[in-house]
Amino acid sequence: MKKFSKIISFISASFLLTNTNVFASENNSVSIPFDQNNNVIIQEEEIKKGKRLFNNTCAVCHTGGITKTNPNVGLDLKALSNANPPRNTILSLIDFIENPKTYDGLESIAETHPSIKSADIFPKLRSLTDGDLYSIASYILSQPIINPEKWGGGKIHY
Ligand code: HEC
Repeated sequence: MKKFSKIISFISASFLLTNTNVFASENNSVSIPFDQNNNVIIQEEEIKKGKRLFNNTCAVCHTGGITKTNPNVGLDLKALSNANPPRNTILSLIDFIENPKTYDGLESIAETHPSIKSADIFPKLRSLTDGDLYSIASYILSQPIINPEKWGGGKIHY
């Protein structure tokens, strides 16, 4: 809870919380779900930072939003939405990177999936701050809006 309130104060200091649906706006910002009830406007710089961190930490397995070793559990909105509980919001993605669970939510996979919880065995995760996790989650959720035909299982472009 302490961690969440830290994240929330960080966010409300820098961003606007809204209740609108997902849309891509003209000035290179996107509105994506923060939690089940609220959307947040994410600026281009945030997405760029998230992309850099994602490429450094996650892309070896998730390039283009797929999962190389398990194509059924990609980072596209359909796969994220059907997880239990759904992973299609910033908070739920941060939760996953902190302590990842099986698709049905029943068991931790922190020992095999890079996470904050298992940073002792995944050194790249050690330096990630709460703000970095926010950026990575924002990047993942912005891609279905910004690059819909390149992100996820649909068409493979590389
Ligand atoms: C060593 C390869 C590897 C790396 C590195 C990796 N992942 Fe994964 N990721 C996987 C695998 C495999 C799964 C599927 C796990 C399962 O069986 O449920 C997965 C699943 C996920 C899911 C769940 C997707 C869904 O549809 O529910 C998310 C979210 C995710 N990874 C995010 C990340 C993020 C963010 C990073 C970087 C911080 C990362 N992963 C780094 C291999 C990796």
